[in-house]
Amino acid sequence: MALPPVLDGKLSLPAIASPLFIISNPALVIAQCKAGVVGSFPALNARPAAQLDEWLHEIREALAEHDRDNPDNPSAPYAVNQIVHRSNERLEHDVEMCVKHKAPIVITSLGARVDVNDAVHSYGGITLHDVINNTYAKKAIEKGADGLIAIATGAGGHAGTLSPIALIQEIREWFDGPLLLGGAIATGDAILAAQAMGADLGYVGSAFIATDEARAQPEYKQMIADCGADDIVYTNLVTGVHGNYLRGSFELAGMDPDALPESDPTKMDFGQDKTKAWKDIWGSGQGIGAVKNVVPAADLVARLKEEYAAAKKRLAV
Ligand SMILES: Cc1cc2nc3c(=O)[nH]c(=O)nc-3n(C[C@H](O)[C@H](O)[C@H](O)COP(=O)(O)O)c2cc1C
Repeated sequence: MALPPVLDGKLSLPAIASPLFIISNPALVIAQCKAGVVGSFPALNARPAAQLDEWLHEIREALAEHDRDNPDNPSAPYAVNQIVHRSNERLEHDVEMCVKHKAPIVITSLGARVDVNDAVHSYGGITLHDVINNTYAKKAIEKGADGLIAIATGAGGHAGTLSPIALIQEIREWFDGPLLLGGAIATGDAILAAQAMGADLGYVGSAFIATDEARAQPEYKQMIADCGADDIVYTNLVTGVHGNYLRGSFELAGMDPDALPESDPTKMDFGQDKTKAWKDIWGSGQGIGAVKNVVPAADLVARLKEEYAAAKKRLAV
C-alpha cells in the first residue's frame, strides 16, 4: 500500500480535503495545502472557464512562496477535480489547463475516461477516481486511474449507500494501489479508522464548509456547526444523483424535507440551473456532529491532527 511519490511523505496528516462544488476556492485550497493536507477544488468552480488558468497560477505561486519561506514545513500538493460527465462542456478546456500547470493530482468523478487519465499521465500527474461501489472501482482502474476514492454511505454531496467497512474490504481484495475513504470523516479518530480498515488516506469534505476560507453563506457554515447526523436527508432531487443535504436548507427554501419528490436522473446537469440549486440546497455529510464552530481551515486541520495523534496513542499504534 505504498503511496505514489507525489503523496508519499508529503502530508502532515494522512488526508485529502475533498472538492466542494461552489465552495472550494483558491483561498481554501492554499490554506489546506499549507496546513499539510491535499487541498482540492472542482475546476467548474472557476467561472468563467478562463478563470481556471488564474486560479491555478495563484495556487502555484502561493504554495511556492510558502515552500521558499518554510523549507522545514512544506505545503502538501494540490488537486483539481474534473466532473467527467457528458453535461460538462468545459472538460477538454479544463483538462488542458491541468496539463499546462502540471496539476500534481486530478480527482475525477461521475465518469472515468481513458483520455483524461492519459492527459494527466503525460506530465507525470496522477488521477484518483471516486466510486461508490466495487464495480465502478474496477472500471476506473481498467480505464487507467492510479488510485480510488471510496465514497461510502453518509458522505456529503453525491454519496453511496454502502458501509465503509464492506466497500474498503471488497476493493482491497484486488487493489493494492492508493485508496482513500470518504463519507462522514470529520475527526482524526475517523481518519485512523479509515486506515485501520485498509485505506491509505481519509477524504474529508463537509467539515471544511465551516471554515473561514470556504465560499459558503454564513448561514450555511453555521448550520454545519449546529447540526448532526439526524439533520441530513438523502435525496436525488438536487442533481438527479442521490446525495446528502441539510434538512434545514430545504425548509429555508420552502420545501418539506420529509416529502421530497423524486427527480429524473436523465436531467442531471452542471449548468447554470444546478449552480442555482446548490446555492439554495446545502450539501452535507453525516459527520458534522464533530464540527462545533466556524474556524480557519488551519485550525480544523490542527484539530484533526491532535485527534489523530491522541487516537494512535490510545490504541498504541
Ligand atoms: C457541498 C458539497 C459539494 C460537493 N461537491 C463535489 C464536487 O464538485 N465534486 C466532487 O467530486 N465531489 C463533491 N462533493 C463530495 C466530496 O468531494 C466528498 O466526496 C464528500 O464531501 C465526503 O464526505 P463528507 O462530506 O461526509 O466528508 C461535494 C460534497 C459536498 C458536501
